[in-house]
Amino acid sequence: MSRKGVILSGGRATRLQPLTFVTSKQLLPVYDKPMIYYPLAVLMMAGVREVMIVSSSHDLYRFQTLFEDGSHLGLKISYGVQEEPRGIADAFLVAEGFIAGESVALILGDNIFYGEDLDKALCAIDKDERGGVIFGYEVNNPERFGVVRFNERGEPLEILEKPKKPPSNYAVTGLYFYDNQVIEIAKQLTPSGRGELEITDVNNAYLRKGELKVVKLSKGFAWFDSGTFEDLHKASTYVRIMQEMQHTKIACIEEIAYRLGYINREELRNLADLHSKSSYSEYLYAILSDYQHVTV
Ligand code: G1P
Repeated sequence: MSRKGVILSGGRATRLQPLTFVTSKQLLPVYDKPMIYYPLAVLMMAGVREVMIVSSSHDLYRFQTLFEDGSHLGLKISYGVQEEPRGIADAFLVAEGFIAGESVALILGDNIFYGEDLDKALCAIDKDERGGVIFGYEVNNPERFGVVRFNERGEPLEILEKPKKPPSNYAVTGLYFYDNQVIEIAKQLTPSGRGELEITDVNNAYLRKGELKVVKLSKGFAWFDSGTFEDLHKASTYVRIMQEMQHTKIACIEEIAYRLGYINREELRNLADLHSKSSYSEYLYAILSDYQHVTV
């Protein structure tokens, strides 16, 4: 069994206008790369090689232009249309044929995750395990998110979508791992007050079966949902500072593909040549020369 990956890149991003008048939010820059590189990198680190990008037909061609069929990264990327923003859980209905009988990881196209050992944590999620795994992250403004209510033993009891009185500070992040039951669960949902199929209802369905794990991300992790100018700017600043301090790039999908062995040196060099006038390509060339030193 393999795990399929879905990136939901829909929505009208009205909170980011005028930035999003002529392009989609997930293609806006987060420092030195388009926003969607970050969730794609997370799926790659989780071992996913087949990805469907779900977006409106209006925006889809932009993602197709950027990634084509994904083969240059050793991936298989396909595209699904969600005409109206019918909710996060609707992505499972759009991607039903693509997911087929497999398990699936869904990530929101505007969510940025970064932390030491993120790749190890992601790889540890067993693709054949029954149920779902979601991630809770402590925030100061939980009322903007899905929020986890825990019992006194710290076990999750319920998720509340944008509660006025949040029962904890643990927001549910936009990264979800499910077994194949998710398709049937999504089919049984009815739209919420805002007219959407809510991912929170999917998570509550798993919780009721006793099949949802909520992993608390430590303070050492960074999570951004870049839906506002402030968040977008904060994410860019964070990426720039971390990259400069650590002399490495966050979510460099070409590097990840190379280190995972999905592409060879020649293919990495071709990708570096594509961006030949930017410091992004200098970074890719540096990886090639580092490796040369190691292997000589
Ligand atoms: C959505 C989900 C919410 C989750 C958030 C994470 O919110 O409904 O449960 O915490 O993504 O980014 P929305 O972006 O629809 O406001």
